[in-house]
Amino acid sequence: MEPKYKRVIIKLSGEALAGNAGHGIDTPTIETICRQIKEVFELGVEIAIVVGGGNFWRGRSGEGMDKSTADYMGMLATCINALGLQDVLEEMGVPVRVQTAIEMKQIAEPYIRRKAIRHLEKRRIVIFAAGTGNPFFTTDTTAALRAAEIDAEIILLAKSIDAVYDSDPLINPNAKRYTELSYIDVLNKGLKVMDSTATSLCMDNHIPILVFGLNEPENILRAVMGEKIGTIVQE
Ligand code: GTP
Repeated sequence: MEPKYKRVIIKLSGEALAGNAGHGIDTPTIETICRQIKEVFELGVEIAIVVGGGNFWRGRSGEGMDKSTADYMGMLATCINALGLQDVLEEMGVPVRVQTAIEMKQIAEPYIRRKAIRHLEKRRIVIFAAGTGNPFFTTDTTAALRAAEIDAEIILLAKSIDAVYDSDPLINPNAKRYTELSYIDVLNKGLKVMDSTATSLCMDNHIPILVFGLNEPENILRAVMGEKIGTIVQE
């Protein structure tokens, strides 16, 4: 079977790397995720990864702290995760380039759009770190922005929940599970799939978003093969 997509953005939350510890990077967890990504990569799919930083620091959690400062701390957290992913993937024999939205040249390449595309064409995974480089923007918005910039066909939004619901299924056992949604529905219903900036950016640029759970890591592969998992958000 052929993969459905040629170029994708995989958005991983920082928490996805923490495993049961809920904090930091859990080695077996990150290895399981990377093994899946490698499998997809070996099918010939061009993969760019946007990673969050919530396993180290949540941008908005700095109680009483200046918001921009808290967000910059979050951006640095994404860089730690990006280097962790790079290391594990390269250990598995997958070539990776990390690009940061804020220059830290001693640590990784700066984000250069044309270079990122070239890396993908040369069969390397590109990891985009440091968010958009601006406070007040989430890493979901980064995924939307980078997807538009590199012409990715879809954003694979790997979450701790298996789909989009109308309320929290852990609290409300009757929560309605969606298999398909429009961008406008997500915005109007105030669904917490992605923040409104990220959703609007995807809407304006016609980029579909597939939301699925990472509790089953083979979901990344299933998503790329076009299986109907999770919730698809599109026009
Ligand atoms: P091409 O030569 O274009 O195919 O790409 P390449 O990434 O293999 O070559 P390049 O010489 O640009 O990079 C070689 C290595 O240095 C790669 O691992 C890059 O990630 C890394 N690298 C490139 N530019 C920078 C930078 O500005 N800072 C850091 N820290 N590493 C860099």
